[in-house]
Amino acid sequence: MLGCCYYPEHWPKDLWAQDAAEMAALGLTYVRIGEFAWSRFEPQQGRYDFAWFDEVIEILGQAGLKVIIGTPTATPPKWLIDAHPDILPVDTHTGHVRGFGSRRHYDFSSDVYLGHALRISKEMAKRYGANPYVVGWQTDNEIGCHDTTLSASENSKRGFQKWLQKRYGDIDALNKAWGTIFWSMEYRHFEQIELPVLAVTEAHPAHMLDWRRYSSDQVVHFHDEMVKVIRIHAKDQFVTHNFIPMDDTATDNAALGAPLDFASFDNYPLGRADLAFSHWEGADFKKYMRTGHPDLSSWHFSNVQNLSPGNFWVMEQQPGPVNWAGHNPRPAPGMIRFWTWEAFAHGAEVVSYFRWRQAPFAQEQMHAGLKRPDNSKSDAWTEVERVRAELDAIDLTDFTPEKASVALIRDDESEWVTQIERQGDSYNHFTVHLQWYSALRRLGLQVDVLSRGADLSGYKLVACPCVSIIDEDFLAQVKASKAQFLFGPRSGGKTQNFSIPNNLAPGQLQDILPLKVLSAETVRPDCAVGFAFDGQHFKTMTWMDHLDAGGADVLGRYDDGSPAYVRKGNIGYLGCLTDDEALRSIFSKLAFEVGLPTQNLSEDLRLCRRGALHFAFNYSEEPQKLSAPEGAVFLLGSHEVAGRGLAIWREDIE
Ligand code: GAL
Repeated sequence: MLGCCYYPEHWPKDLWAQDAAEMAALGLTYVRIGEFAWSRFEPQQGRYDFAWFDEVIEILGQAGLKVIIGTPTATPPKWLIDAHPDILPVDTHTGHVRGFGSRRHYDFSSDVYLGHALRISKEMAKRYGANPYVVGWQTDNEIGCHDTTLSASENSKRGFQKWLQKRYGDIDALNKAWGTIFWSMEYRHFEQIELPVLAVTEAHPAHMLDWRRYSSDQVVHFHDEMVKVIRIHAKDQFVTHNFIPMDDTATDNAALGAPLDFASFDNYPLGRADLAFSHWEGADFKKYMRTGHPDLSSWHFSNVQNLSPGNFWVMEQQPGPVNWAGHNPRPAPGMIRFWTWEAFAHGAEVVSYFRWRQAPFAQEQMHAGLKRPDNSKSDAWTEVERVRAELDAIDLTDFTPEKASVALIRDDESEWVTQIERQGDSYNHFTVHLQWYSALRRLGLQVDVLSRGADLSGYKLVACPCVSIIDEDFLAQVKASKAQFLFGPRSGGKTQNFSIPNNLAPGQLQDILPLKVLSAETVRPDCAVGFAFDGQHFKTMTWMDHLDAGGADVLGRYDDGSPAYVRKGNIGYLGCLTDDEALRSIFSKLAFEVGLPTQNLSEDLRLCRRGALHFAFNYSEEPQKLSAPEGAVFLLGSHEVAGRGLAIWREDIE
């Protein structure tokens, strides 16, 4: 099903009915409204004005559309900020207050703000919780976006001190756990502890990690409370949240998603690719400039699906050029349809376009919509019409995504560890994970992305690019699993208190893999050394663990003959970052061992399954041949997938 994001408060009232009728005629089912309109809902404290919103909902509902209301808490109005300036967050790099005038200008540690956010959410839930046209709620908007999880405020400091007191009980325990004797950082009481910002040089890593944990807990608390308030009054409506990429929330994503009916994602393939690959040479990037990268949206979908017990939604889908990336190209013709199908292939239930009509004023006037500011139809329109017609022919509700055989573990806390202890410029948690995910997908494998702690049963191959802190619980899960595991460098490298484990990395993993990391080095990418595996020679990339292989088998070696990749039983450890070919070679051997068939897909072709439906997405301009079986029944496209096109087929029917 399809939908759109609509801002009735931006348009003259006499357009509302026409807009609603056109949305319905286009075949949209859902419309999201309200998430930035607080200053209209409550022009002064306690003076609510919902009459106009009642009318909008009535018009949309009467046109046959189902409404999702966003709580407007990403944009606290000016009167609220003037009354309580300490709601504003404080920049962690400068210590300056981040002011009013855009959005997300609030501090998750402000109890005053929490109170107001819950108050407005409650008012709205009370008013619309039983409205027959309102089917669901979106909490806030893109929590964590614009780097707003961390705030260097007094509120955060006081909250953090209390959080630490609760965690450690007494100050000596904290001093010991952190190792504050280093550089004479010992504390005598909790009130002495500042935030780990604006120090002369790097702050204490254990201090930073605990602050990241605290800040994440604040976000989760804020969100949990909001979900509770909504649910009291909106008993038969769903609650979701529109996530930004999990790599950017600085929050425990699984905890954030836990109280939701399902998670949603905001999918901007070109904007995200421009940001993620800004370091690529133009010659390599150009071919994806108007298509996005073959694995990037998929990566995000796999992450968001991990949070959703059933299907997920794409709450915002890029419909044309955006305004916020380094460069904002137009999508290649056909890409809006292509991206929509890609989301459905991964299990999306709804794809909703952002936004209905491009705004001629304010911050996002250069951001495309389904309609132009003059109300003409933008290029995306006919693509949406086409998807709509295709969806009529292929009823996706018959096809539920199934668990994959391959899991990749992505862990928020590990990301924070690698950001806090960078060890040079060489390690980027997101890049490493995307590379591993891509390598598996190039082999034609379907991959589930899981949080640390998720159920591992049924998986045959588990890739762990980086689980920095391997605790008892995770170790027990690994021990209980029969899957082949591959751990990447830095795994098990830290304790809960951000120290090197007593027995050296990979810490507790040594219970099942007799291996020690003797030292780790990072080198410039253009100074990489070689890595030999299975009779082939590859490159290492930037990070190298030097290993005492103990009783493990050595499967790969550095140029100097020392161990780089070792394994015992079903547990492998790859001590270096390496090139894409090496990863594919390692994974294809592992997949073979566990009985998973693989293919060698070309650089720009990817496969995906949704129940009995098979999908192929061709990111290149040239047509590409599929190796779908002879009996495959094509519902869209054919064995030869058009350039920047897709194919959908079934193998289970004659
Ligand atoms: C999203 C956000 C929207 C809009 C959009 C523009 O991140 O949720 O409100 O700003 O980006 O691409």
